[in-house]
Amino acid sequence: MTRIPAVRVELGERSYDVLAGEGAADALLDHVASTDAGRIAVVAAGNVFDIHGEAVIAGLDRRGKRSTVHRLPPGEQGKSLPVVGGIIDEILSEDFERRDLVLGLGGGAATDVAGFVASLLLRGVRWVVLPTSLLGQVDAAVGGKTGVNVRRGKNLVGTFHQPRAVGCDTGFLATLPAREFRAGMAEVVKTAWIGDPSLFEALERDPPKDASHPRLPETIRRCIAVKADIVSQDEREAGRRASLNFGHTLGHAIETESGMSYLHGECVSLGMVAALHISVETGRCEASLLERLLALLEDLGLPVRDPSLDTDAILARTRADKKRREGGDRYQLTRGLGFVSVARDLPAGAPRAAIEFLRR
Ligand code: GLY
Repeated sequence: MTRIPAVRVELGERSYDVLAGEGAADALLDHVASTDAGRIAVVAAGNVFDIHGEAVIAGLDRRGKRSTVHRLPPGEQGKSLPVVGGIIDEILSEDFERRDLVLGLGGGAATDVAGFVASLLLRGVRWVVLPTSLLGQVDAAVGGKTGVNVRRGKNLVGTFHQPRAVGCDTGFLATLPAREFRAGMAEVVKTAWIGDPSLFEALERDPPKDASHPRLPETIRRCIAVKADIVSQDEREAGRRASLNFGHTLGHAIETESGMSYLHGECVSLGMVAALHISVETGRCEASLLERLLALLEDLGLPVRDPSLDTDAILARTRADKKRREGGDRYQLTRGLGFVSVARDLPAGAPRAAIEFLRR
C-alpha cells in the first residue's frame, strides 16, 4: 500500500479521506481495490484521459478491477444534462450493478459530472475521485457537490453526493497548462483568506507559481483541511459553507458575461477584489488588506482589473441570480483574514462601485 498524507472529511458514517501528495492516485486505486466493486466506470474528461487514462486503467487492471471508460467533452461543454444522460446509458449498457463504482478523472467540470452520474445511477452508487487540476484538488472534488449547467445558469442542477475517497495526486499538476495552474491558485488564495491566515501570509512571501514549488503539496493539504472543516460543519450549505463562495457572486456573473472566455479561477480573482472593495467601502475591513490581496493576485499573474467589463450586464446577471435565492443579496464580505460571512442589504450602489473599481 502506498502511504500518502490524508485529510479526513468528518461526516459520520459518510466520512472519507482526501489523500493528497505525490502518489495519491495509486493510494486511491488501492482503496478501490479494497472494495467489493466488480467493475469501475471511469468517467473522464476526454483530454485528461488522453494524458493520464492509460495509467489509471492499467492500475485498475493490476489490482484485478475491470473498468469501462466514458469520455466527456472538454471543460464546461461536458457539464450538461444531455451529456449526463448519454453517459448513464453507456454505463448501464455495460451491466453496471449497485455494488460497482464510478471513478471521476479530470478537472472540476469532469468530476462534477462524474459525481452527478454516480448520484443518479441506480438511485445512487459509490464514487471516488482523481482530480487532475489544482482547482479540483483544493475545491471542486472535495465536499460532494455535483451537478451540471443549464440554460438558466451554472450549477443550477445537481446533488450533494459525497465520494468514498479522493486522491489529489500532485504529480498530475505537472501537465497542467500554466494558465490553468494560475487560475487554480485563485481558489488557493480564496481558501487561505477564508480559513488559514498564516497560509495567506506564506503565499505572500513565496507563492507557488508552478507545480514544481516544494511547498505546493503542503499548500494543497492546508486548503483541503480548511474545506474539510467547513464541509464537516455544514455539508448542505445552510450557513458557513457559503463562505466558500467568497468572490463568486460577481465572479460568476463576470464568468457568464464573458462568454466563458475567462477561466473560473480568473473570475474568482476579479470577484475577490470586488468583494474586498465592497468590504472596505462599507467599513468592514481595512484598505491595506485590499492592497495586500491585489499584490498577491498580481504576483500570481491573475487578473485584478478589466476595463472591458460591462457593469450593467454584470449587475443584471447578479440580480437574476439573486431572484433564485431567498433573502436578498448574498455577497460574501470580509472583516479581514479568516473572517468571511454573508452580508445582506448592502448600500445601493456598492456592487456597481466595485465593478467600476475593476474597470479602472
Ligand atoms: N465550491 C464551493 C463548495 O464546495 O461549497
